[in-house]
Amino acid sequence: MPSELPASALYSSPALGRLWKKVHQACSPFLHRPAVRRLYQRPTSVLRKTLAGPYSLIALGCAEGTKEALLLQGMPKPAFLLTADTNLSLARRAARHLPARKKAFRNIDLSRPFPAFQFPTATARIFTLFGVLPNLEPVPLLRRIARLMKSDDWLLFSANLAPGKSGFAGARKVLSQYNNLPTRRWLEASVRRYRPKLPPGGLEFGVHPDPREKTLARIEARWIAHPKTWIIFSSRRPTMAQVESWIRIAHLKKTARFLEPRGEEGLWLVGPAPSRSPPSHPD
Ligand SMILES: C[S@@+](CC[C@H](N)C(=O)[O-])C[C@H]1O[C@@H](n2cnc3c(N)ncnc32)[C@H](O)[C@@H]1O
Repeated sequence: MPSELPASALYSSPALGRLWKKVHQACSPFLHRPAVRRLYQRPTSVLRKTLAGPYSLIALGCAEGTKEALLLQGMPKPAFLLTADTNLSLARRAARHLPARKKAFRNIDLSRPFPAFQFPTATARIFTLFGVLPNLEPVPLLRRIARLMKSDDWLLFSANLAPGKSGFAGARKVLSQYNNLPTRRWLEASVRRYRPKLPPGGLEFGVHPDPREKTLARIEARWIAHPKTWIIFSSRRPTMAQVESWIRIAHLKKTARFLEPRGEEGLWLVGPAPSRSPPSHPD
């Protein structure tokens, strides 16, 4: 099995941050396709119908909160907003820009059991989780969130999908969104900066099985330096059916699904499953 670089290696200097931003500006479907941006406004009609009174918004892994801002355009102002990200300055910026009666921001590591800090409990809560599942283990994370949820809470999460029924064929269709010049420049700069130094080699993009879920397609950029290989970057691309199996395994219940027209990105609105059995997993 090839060694995997930590995701932080891709953002470990201001120069790498700038190269990532160029990738985002050149390749992000959210920036280039209005249909993808509209996706984040579509859940509002269902949410408005189901929320009986004041609510709190808890934005997990929110970065600057751009997608939450689109969602909130069609919603009454939340009574309370909590923005939470591993990058505290991003969480602070999101809290500053998003509308709410009361606000807080936190540092959170979504890859670990949640700390004991209090999520607000007085109102119904909408948890958002956008753009996070490609890079964090999906089922343990969805389970952790499911355990927090009261019966009147919602989770709205996004998934970058492999369009169609076959995950591997679908992921190959979107490979050019990764295998391009700006992405190569960013990843090659990350390899040059990484310590201990990697040997001379070349970058190869491909679709591989996720090591934890063999039927799940993962786009990977690998550094090939014979005889060794390193995984520099990876992004899960589940099918819709795979996302819905994660929902069931995590003891959640689907209320609505929204897809952008090419089927490359989807949003799921889920609540806690009515008959949750006691957790059997330590996460
Ligand atoms: C791909 S960005 C998505 C940002 C934003 N939600 C969006 O969709 O545009 C992933 C975000 O998750 C945050 N993140 C990555 N790993 C995390 C972790 N372990 N815990 C909390 N946040 C994390 C990053 O700082 C970043 O803001």
